[in-house]
Amino acid sequence: MTNNLNAALQYAHDNHETTLRELKELVVIPSVSTVPEHAADMYTAAEWLENKLTSIGLQAQVFKTKKHPIVFAEYKFSPDAPTVLIYGHYDVQPSDPLDLWETDPFTPEIRGEYLYGRGTSDMKGQVIASIKAIEALLEHNSLKVNVKFMIEGEEESGSPSLKPFLESHKDLLAADIALNPDTGMMAPDIPTITLGLRGVAHFELIIHGPKRDLHSGMFGGVVHNPAQVMCDVLSGMHNPDGSVALPGFYDKVRTLTKEEKEELARLPITDDTYLQQTGIPKLWGEPGFTPVERIGARPTLEINGMYSGYLGEGSKTIIPSYAVGKVSLRLVPNQDPAEVKQQIMDYLESKIPDTVTWEIKPPRGARASIVDRDLPATIALRDALKTVWEKDPVYKLEGGSVPVVGAMEEILGMKSVLTGFGLPGDNIHSPNERLHLPTWKNGIDTLIHFFVNMTY
Ligand code: BES
Ligand code: MN
Repeated sequence: MTNNLNAALQYAHDNHETTLRELKELVVIPSVSTVPEHAADMYTAAEWLENKLTSIGLQAQVFKTKKHPIVFAEYKFSPDAPTVLIYGHYDVQPSDPLDLWETDPFTPEIRGEYLYGRGTSDMKGQVIASIKAIEALLEHNSLKVNVKFMIEGEEESGSPSLKPFLESHKDLLAADIALNPDTGMMAPDIPTITLGLRGVAHFELIIHGPKRDLHSGMFGGVVHNPAQVMCDVLSGMHNPDGSVALPGFYDKVRTLTKEEKEELARLPITDDTYLQQTGIPKLWGEPGFTPVERIGARPTLEINGMYSGYLGEGSKTIIPSYAVGKVSLRLVPNQDPAEVKQQIMDYLESKIPDTVTWEIKPPRGARASIVDRDLPATIALRDALKTVWEKDPVYKLEGGSVPVVGAMEEILGMKSVLTGFGLPGDNIHSPNERLHLPTWKNGIDTLIHFFVNMTY
């Protein structure tokens, strides 16, 4: 086995250029799930993956959904061996603002130790790493587990088609554990296991005022400006100290134990880390918690976008006819997205005056998820990371969300282990997204070890 393992690792190293070329091929496809113009690109990406998975020896197929296709592939080793379901998403975030990219988002380019391009880190790089690890193991007859891939195209828009797919394909997807490489490492030299993800709820509020934009001199003083109402509504969602003001919002929040607080405090992250990563002059947030606690274990509310009125050059003296606000909330364990949705509705109903009308695009929600550190797969991952990095991994709570983790638990009764080989400085969802190639390379080795370790 050791020889086969070494041969698989060697194969992965020898093929690194091909691996990189394949990642670039996938990054070139602008598979932005939220933009309707990219619908055809979604198919191109799905078919690229289907072909790739077929070429390494898996049974692959593309499933149509209401929106973007899901790629499924399977390698059957033995009914007695464990089955790992590898999750991935081939969709990416929109690339705008385009002018802030140093090179075209869909023309991948290597600069220094990084590959730049939309989706390189989140998460086409992680998808390719998983496929190449399986390829290397198959090439040397050392894959001793059953493997399934499920790669969706709607993660970045909340995975609306995935739930029905899980419901209707329970047998096809049956597995002992899901491997979800959609999170990241804390630093190139800190192997990381993610033990928790925040949940999420998001909604869009539209406030309607006059039936068309009005002259602000002729009507200012008699018409309640919808942009002003929007400002009041949005600003009322936080208390001055930075905590969220929605009544009941914190009622169910799970508090950290003393041990958990101590473990988080040992993570090599300081206020300075966040100042450097973000370029802000000073940190902000709920009092009484460290930044690591606020990101990993406290719920938050963010305004993601707002627009109203005249946005062009120069001034235009109007009262706009409507205002739009986009808001998302990050939820933590024990908060119920349905209850949070109700809290939002109650707040809006009590806050918005009858001088305007309003509508809301209904909030979508996903629960937070926690991973058990004693699961065989978490242990297999820990040992794999330890072998490659030659040190024990750290366990962290991630502030981001991967709604599918909760959905798989709910619908399939399947737990996930979470990792990934992106870094905090990868600019995911931002201009100049990039992937740190040395960390990614280590990641492929780690996944090879992981699958071997799964046969302990
Ligand atoms: N890969 C991210 C989640 C993530 C971000 C994990 C940072 C670890 C560190 C994922 O693709 C993502 O961005 N998810 C969205 C989900 C939302 C659209 C429902 C998120 O967290 O905003
Ligand atoms: Mn992702």
